[in-house]
Amino acid sequence: MTEQQANHDPIIIVEGVTRIYQVGSNQVHALRGVDMVVPRSIFAAVKGRSGSGKTTLLNIIGGLDRATAGKVILDGRPLDNLSERQMTLMRRHMIGFVFQSFALLPTFSAFENIELPLRIAGVPRRERVERVRRALSVVGLSRWANHRPHELSGGQQQRVAIARALANRPALILADEPTGELDSVTGREILALFRHIVEEEGVTVLMVTHDPKVEEFAHRIYEMVDGRIDRVRDTAVTPFALQQPMAV
Ligand SMILES: Nc1ncnc2c1ncn2[C@@H]1O[C@H](COP(=O)(O)OP(=O)(O)O)[C@@H](O)[C@H]1O
Ligand SMILES: [Mg+2]
Repeated sequence: MTEQQANHDPIIIVEGVTRIYQVGSNQVHALRGVDMVVPRSIFAAVKGRSGSGKTTLLNIIGGLDRATAGKVILDGRPLDNLSERQMTLMRRHMIGFVFQSFALLPTFSAFENIELPLRIAGVPRRERVERVRRALSVVGLSRWANHRPHELSGGQQQRVAIARALANRPALILADEPTGELDSVTGREILALFRHIVEEEGVTVLMVTHDPKVEEFAHRIYEMVDGRIDRVRDTAVTPFALQQPMAV
């Protein structure tokens, strides 16, 4: 983490990214030339209406989908040069995903859900236990470790999903509408948790959403309209470092 914090290069650079879906004989232009730069260790949000291209953009940044044209540079590495295998490894080691629907395994406890990606990544048992406990503690669920998803509220389930993303010690957490299924009080708690982990753990969070509450919590907002970033602005909670002219 120290190395990452010392690195002032942006964690995400997107240049002229387009994504065209072929649907029968029609072409759907989901992204029409996206440019964006996201500095490290901030809580960034892409805000836009449904259909504006947010999920497509997040999936391309996370290597789950490929751009039709343009460039994505993640942590200094251009994604278009990576094979599928390299992309999978990059995702596993560098990125944590959080989804609207939590995506927890129903028969697994909170602990086991958080532990699973660590098993897949080959983390030894003793270290897994340590990391899971710590992640549970960061999201405030230490006492719920042995509960299954159906025994937890929606907000608690989303906390488990965030702990699962965090346990892998990613440099970047990508979240797609993570408050979409939560009431507004619980949604606020999740947004506050994202900001907390950015400020305490040094991770970068990029969230896409149409939730207006994000304005109160994110450091920087990228406004997306019809497949493009229309405007970028820093919010009132932006850390001082970001207010330096484009040191980002
Ligand atoms: N797999 C796909 N095939 C065809 N069209 C798609 C696909 N995914 C998204 N789209 C279209 O691309 C546009 C942007 O979608 P999306 O990225 O999901 O927007 P958002 O997340 O902002 O709601 C929409 O018009 C959507 O219908
Ligand atoms: Mg979407």
